[in-house]
Amino acid sequence: MKKMFKPIALLLALTLLLASCSFSRDKDNKATTVPENTTAVKDVTMKKEQRRADRLSMQLEYPETVSEVVNGLILSEVNKFADDFKKQANAFLAANEAQCSMQLKSEVAPYKENAFNVCYTVNAQIGDSRYNTSYARVYNTSENAAYAIADFFGKENATYLEELSAAVKESVRKNNLPVDSWLLEQGTHANAACFSSFMIFGDKFTFVFPSGQLADESIRVDVQLSALTSFQAGAASVSDFSQLEAPENIETDVQPGTTVPEGTTQAGKEPETTAKRPEYNGKKRIALTFDDGPGAHTDRLLEALKQYNAKATFFMVGTSLDSFPEQAKHVYEAGCEIGNHTYSHKTLTKLDAAGLESEIGRVDSILEKLTGEKPKLMRPPGGSINDNVRAAGNRPFILWNVDTEDWKHKDADYVYDYVMKTVSEGDIVLMHDIHKTSVDAAVRLIKALTEQGYELVTISELFEIYGPKLENGKAYYAITGSGWK
Ligand code: NI
Repeated sequence: MKKMFKPIALLLALTLLLASCSFSRDKDNKATTVPENTTAVKDVTMKKEQRRADRLSMQLEYPETVSEVVNGLILSEVNKFADDFKKQANAFLAANEAQCSMQLKSEVAPYKENAFNVCYTVNAQIGDSRYNTSYARVYNTSENAAYAIADFFGKENATYLEELSAAVKESVRKNNLPVDSWLLEQGTHANAACFSSFMIFGDKFTFVFPSGQLADESIRVDVQLSALTSFQAGAASVSDFSQLEAPENIETDVQPGTTVPEGTTQAGKEPETTAKRPEYNGKKRIALTFDDGPGAHTDRLLEALKQYNAKATFFMVGTSLDSFPEQAKHVYEAGCEIGNHTYSHKTLTKLDAAGLESEIGRVDSILEKLTGEKPKLMRPPGGSINDNVRAAGNRPFILWNVDTEDWKHKDADYVYDYVMKTVSEGDIVLMHDIHKTSVDAAVRLIKALTEQGYELVTISELFEIYGPKLENGKAYYAITGSGWK
């Protein structure tokens, strides 16, 4: 999710609005009160979590489902709210003696079998000022994904956004909702990003516009499905981009078989076959992870890691190993961790037992031949897991909680900026070392993060430090709250 408005920009916008706007703000506006009408949803329970630091506290309540992947999506959403709050609170606390607190509540409501709505509502207090906002998503636990608005209108449909834009404005007028007219125009452009926060019920969409998008408060707008000619009843199958990670066919900058100049590592260097564990000296740690390689840029990445005494984890794909076997050895010799990312990057949940055995087993034996070790960790392509995959992989499945979407942006500056503003202690960052732009970004990130006091560790080290203990067949998208004071 890309939030349209950062709360901090929002507070600014809010100040301007208060001075200029004509609409009356209804303090009892339903959208900003703590959700009350949470309906029980099958197989969804509420988890409560407290996070505390010195003068900063967060109470988080969010759903847990039977799908580890959906749980990961939910947690990464929750973490974004938490990170936004932390950033603002820490900036304030640096200059002020005060307490800051944040409360996140989640309202859940059924959509259809295996699919349900979640509306997150944040109320935060930073010194004397308060902010609140809401954001909604629809999850599907059998598809292991969140829906995008486009999923309900068919892939070929180019005009649905214009229809949505008009329908939302119409509903705002008809229901006399307290919006700012200038913001209404800006916030309902025919752009999917404007309609990313929604719930869906049998007969209607409920768009939950975050505070700052249509008004200074969060606003809910109902649009009847019958009013949308382009809505495709029951069409929704989840789009590629609402999956955790999309690339089914790996895009490489280099064609398979391309040779890489030898001699990029020092000849005769003693391989450090025993990865030295960092001394646990109270530093804050992050795990950078690189998927789909090794590739033509992997050696350059290793050099940067070495320069800053940093480690990373590489989830390797068999077809890349066929092209770049030496690079896999270099990764191992650098004391980095290697995980299995399948032979040909297939979605594992779609395979039968023989297919699973082949996709996973081939990579195990290639790596064992190259490094002498079978990889102890696994990352399933797209984060897709079911019980068959768990059994076939029979090791910890490592997902991520910071998704750079580097494969989509192919923009080193974007990836660098995104990580620098998003990352915090204990995070698992997803990147792909097959892209030159990603390695460009990583080289800068390794330096900058180290200078900010982060220690870059492998996945095994991260979980050893913060917990929980990794177990075979279980999926992990992040460390638990144990890293918090
Ligand atoms: Ni991948």
